[in-house]
Amino acid sequence: MSVTVVEHPLAQHLLSQLRDVTTEPEIFRRLARQLTTILVIEATKGLALREVTVQTPLTECKTQVLAEGLATVPILRAGLSMLEPVLEMFPDVKVGYVGLERHEDTAIARSYYMKLPKLEGRFTLCLDPMLATGGSAAKAIGQLKVAGARKIAMVCVIASPEGVDYLQAIHPDVAIVTACVDECLNHRKYIVPGLGDFGDRLYGTFE
Ligand code: PRP
Ligand code: URA
Repeated sequence: MSVTVVEHPLAQHLLSQLRDVTTEPEIFRRLARQLTTILVIEATKGLALREVTVQTPLTECKTQVLAEGLATVPILRAGLSMLEPVLEMFPDVKVGYVGLERHEDTAIARSYYMKLPKLEGRFTLCLDPMLATGGSAAKAIGQLKVAGARKIAMVCVIASPEGVDYLQAIHPDVAIVTACVDECLNHRKYIVPGLGDFGDRLYGTFE
């Protein structure tokens, strides 16, 4: 399926500030919320609509409202930073959680938590800011499919070419929406140029 790079100037402006090593956690969290808003608007542009009639102050108006159920699943912990804007824009969204942590040496993601609603018939947004090897996203999306998800979009702030290739190989039906596909992974499987460890920068958990 598609990879969409959101090239809106504001998305790129926000991403530049996220990349900046001098950006402190409080600002970093705000930027993550703002950029997620833009990414999610792009990811949901294909949502189905149905016709309704409303009364304006002047006359009756045939118009449209959202017709498709939505679900979202942030991957803990960094994906949590992307949840609030989704809740703001789609108050009826069902929310599930998947907890995954990459091993420091192998970069293989270990599952430590999962709580998912029924996802049948719901367009499901999987939220994780960094698509590095793609291992975490692929594992999470496998769990979403077991819970019934069929239409899935992976929303991330930065992707690596390796992560995009891996995710597309394992889940070719999943749309990827990101603000940038960066150059490569380094020997520790961090995205380059990237922005470092997203979770640490969000929560100030540096050693
Ligand atoms: C980070 C990030 C992704 C994952 C991406 O999480 O938030 O979940 O790494 O890497 P991958 O594509 O190679 O799997 P991490 O495991 O560091 O956990 P955290 O969110 O708790 O910091
Ligand atoms: N996780 C991050 O937070 N950053 C990376 O570059 C790779 C994985």
